[in-house]
Amino acid sequence: MAQHQTLLIIDFGSQVTQLIARRLRELNVYCEIRPYQSVTEEVIREIAPLAVILSGGPDSVTREGSPRAPQALFEMGLPIFGICYGQQVMMEQLGGKVEAGHHAEYGRAYVTPAEGHKLDGIFAGLFLNDGREQVWMSHGDRVTQLAPGFEVIGTSPNAPYAITADESRQFYAVQFHPEVHHTPNGKALIENFLRKAGFTGDWTMAAYREEAIKTIREQVGDKQVICGLSGGVDSSVTAILLHEAIGEQLTCVFVDHGLLRQDEAEQVVAMFRDNYNIKLIAADESDLFIGALEGVSDPEVKRKTIGKLFIDVFQKYANEIEGAEFLAQGTLYPDVIESVSFSGGPSVTIKSHHNVGGLPEKMGLKLVEPLRELFKDEVRELGRELGLPDSFIGRHPFPGPGLAIRCPGEITREKLEILRKADAVYIDQIRKHGLYDEIWQAFVAILPVRTVGVMGDGRTYDYACALRAVTSVDGMTADYYPFTHDFLGETATRIINEVKGINRVTYDITSKPPGTIEWE
Ligand code: XMP
Repeated sequence: MAQHQTLLIIDFGSQVTQLIARRLRELNVYCEIRPYQSVTEEVIREIAPLAVILSGGPDSVTREGSPRAPQALFEMGLPIFGICYGQQVMMEQLGGKVEAGHHAEYGRAYVTPAEGHKLDGIFAGLFLNDGREQVWMSHGDRVTQLAPGFEVIGTSPNAPYAITADESRQFYAVQFHPEVHHTPNGKALIENFLRKAGFTGDWTMAAYREEAIKTIREQVGDKQVICGLSGGVDSSVTAILLHEAIGEQLTCVFVDHGLLRQDEAEQVVAMFRDNYNIKLIAADESDLFIGALEGVSDPEVKRKTIGKLFIDVFQKYANEIEGAEFLAQGTLYPDVIESVSFSGGPSVTIKSHHNVGGLPEKMGLKLVEPLRELFKDEVRELGRELGLPDSFIGRHPFPGPGLAIRCPGEITREKLEILRKADAVYIDQIRKHGLYDEIWQAFVAILPVRTVGVMGDGRTYDYACALRAVTSVDGMTADYYPFTHDFLGETATRIINEVKGINRVTYDITSKPPGTIEWE
């Protein structure tokens, strides 16, 4: 999408580099994050950015061999904004001084304008309340001597050079993190920088849609494309965008592994085949999957069994599509960014996630990934742009292995059936009470215990279930949703009355961490 005005973010490994990209996208500015190791003068010329942001990072510029920006960057006449480590890199490379340690400052701090400084340019509109600005700090080192040409615009008790600028070169460098929410005016500061650098905000979904369609047509030509459809937002938007670009050259494959929610398979088929008129192979392979899973209780074995079968089955149907050369996938930007990792070794596998990673190589297919540049909420926006109903776009995430991982202990057909019914009642309750959109994800897990109850005059000995509902921004951390006792009581009564096989309902109040969202 090179036609857009582009901002280059050089990533020095901060935990929040992605948030810089989020803020920019919110301001309709296209950006690319590149790890500092991969950025050379040639790379910068190739990307041809209108401006550059240097991210924060965990290293210390005082350490020998610590990360730097290419020195040539500072001679290219581009506006540059350095954040935290990015500021220190600028000072160090441009002739100032940074001192290590003893100046740590984490969390909220207040910046006040430096004496006698006129607040104009990119600082216009800041410090308006009581003459000070709340910012978020997270640093160990600090600048102790400015590089030639820079002046101090704002200071904080622990960072005398909290905001610095060399207006003549449009170089700005701040000690705090303007990209995080705890710097309330951070976005305004970034916006001022962008406008001054000449960004007009040309990154809109309508423009993206047009260009994506053009790019897909160029890439695919007259060849056939296969797209795996899960019913989730990413694969659905991918399919609809491709359909718009290449129509009949697209065939979608939807594998029903028998672990979907109530009526879900029918809904997906109706939506794509009937509403959008997309060529769709709907494969009911539930017997195969459930047959392989029956009696399995180990969570990782469940996940691996499903993942392997899925690839086999998908391949079988894809082979039937004559002349297919491409596989379309709903890969998103966060999966693509090669963020700088300072942690060293591979991180611990908490759960092996279900995906079709190995599929393209195995089948000799080339990839079409039209969402590679988008974040999740941008995908939703694109979905709206493409006419997907809000009710569909706003759906809670649903994991690839489906109900298998909401059925701790042995999987049986009976338990899956009970789970489906209980889940449907629970979600109905949440919708009726108008809570669906406030919750990131909600579901029922059927527990591998039977408990004694009394209904009517008889004894029951049925399953217990757990309700789960969490709030989250990205699924990485989560908190349980604070339902009222009335809601929980009413829901428990409905589930026990309406779902044969359950006689006890519990509510899971574990946050993530230490829990995970799913039970397995
Ligand atoms: P956990 O349970 O790890 O889940 O806290 C975080 C989010 O990821 C979803 N999830 C999956 N999604 N394939 C997926 O596509 C998987 O194997 C998978 N496992 C968990 C989960 O539903 C939650 O939204």
